Amino acid sequence: MALWGGRFSKEAGEAMFALSRSVHFDWRLASYDLRSSLAHLNSLEASAIIDKALASKIRSAIKELQSEVASGKFAPIASDEDVHSALERGLTEKLGAEGGAIRAGRSRNDQVATDFRLYLIDHMIEIALETLKLSSAITDLAGGYVNDVAPGFTHLQHAQPVSFGHELAKHAHSLSRDISRISNWLERSNLSPLGAGALAGSSLPLDPETSARELGFSGAIANSIDAVSDRDFVAEALFIISLIGIHLSRIGEEWSLYASSEFAWVELDDAYATGSSIMPQKKNPDAAELARGKAGRFIGSLTGLLTVLKGLPFAYNRDLQEDKELTFDAVENLLLLLPAITGMVATSKFDREKMRAAAPLGFSLATEIADFLVLKGVAFPIAHDAAGKAVRRCEELAIELDQLSDSDLKSIHPLLSGEVRSRLNLDSALAARASASGTAPESVKKQIANLRVKISADASEFAGERKRFSGMMDQ
Ligand code: ARG
Repeated sequence: MALWGGRFSKEAGEAMFALSRSVHFDWRLASYDLRSSLAHLNSLEASAIIDKALASKIRSAIKELQSEVASGKFAPIASDEDVHSALERGLTEKLGAEGGAIRAGRSRNDQVATDFRLYLIDHMIEIALETLKLSSAITDLAGGYVNDVAPGFTHLQHAQPVSFGHELAKHAHSLSRDISRISNWLERSNLSPLGAGALAGSSLPLDPETSARELGFSGAIANSIDAVSDRDFVAEALFIISLIGIHLSRIGEEWSLYASSEFAWVELDDAYATGSSIMPQKKNPDAAELARGKAGRFIGSLTGLLTVLKGLPFAYNRDLQEDKELTFDAVENLLLLLPAITGMVATSKFDREKMRAAAPLGFSLATEIADFLVLKGVAFPIAHDAAGKAVRRCEELAIELDQLSDSDLKSIHPLLSGEVRSRLNLDSALAARASASGTAPESVKKQIANLRVKISADASEFAGERKRFSGMMDQ
């Protein structure tokens, strides 16, 4: 049943209705819609627009609907246009026309904006908690490889040896920034559009601040035109989702490389790998590849939304209905991806010997020679040049840097003595990089300890948000 009709002589044409209909996707907002209806009802009752007796009838009907929606007993039917009209049908089926009293002082414009904020707050909290689980799995994995050396790369070429724990832990840092972004987003987005009506506010004596707080928002949006047309909170959430997706795609790319026969650094757990339908020997890193692939999809959602918003007139326009499917798609896919990547990471086993054996290849210790000379007072450009000559000499003789003879060393630079050989091994190269952010195992241990402190502080912040928010949902 349409929510209008007075000025219309006909029902919507079939094609119009099919285009307009959104209940097959916006039904995800049902529980939030009912909750915001309860808050609105309280407001109508407090201002005596609905008397106590009717308010209590409507309240019981909404509560009944809450459990019927949760159990699936109440569901949309073909003639329902959107979640709001379907739930209003539910209310009128229970109470007759009286149930419609709740529509006073409210429009679908402020209603949908409120529901969507509640949905996104709820789901961004879940995304934060899942991201923290991944972060924690990465940090644990990193903690087990602090003393293992692996080649570090730039340009995908061996650059300098690093602690593999250092290499792994870097991912937890990018995820930690994502968590801060969600926290920051939550603070900015946690405001209620309810009370804005269609666009101009309401002439009824309602109290949007009280309804806002009842719903768990920190307050009401200051400008009613902004309240119904703002979708910045969606754009920002989609950006955060895209960036998390990009971070996961970089983990995915790394794991795919590590799992290749050329690297063969990682053994994936059977539970997080897939086989081939034709090649029985195959074990493929599909979780890692899906992480890479889904990032494209998230960016697609973000781009789609920004394009809908660009140049859009104020206040509400139906274009805004296009904000939902792409958001649901991004949220749901990220929530599928995160636990799989956490599982893949947590069960990965790396080949310590293989990584150590690869670490000195490609003359990755050449910088040690330059640093040795710098410590002897040689200017860096000259030291760099000498180290380069040492590499060239090794290539001519097909030997490694620590095999250069004393006379070869001296001919490269007079201050280059055999003493340099003590630096030309992996462990001392690592230990030497003992700056706070450096790759020395002692530094990496401290970095990981700090990460753990941050992860547990973030986890309790978001567990608190979850509790606060679901407490509100249960009311
Ligand atoms: N289904 C609509 C949406 O998602 C709800 C708001 C409809 N408002 C209106 N004035 N037609 O945006």
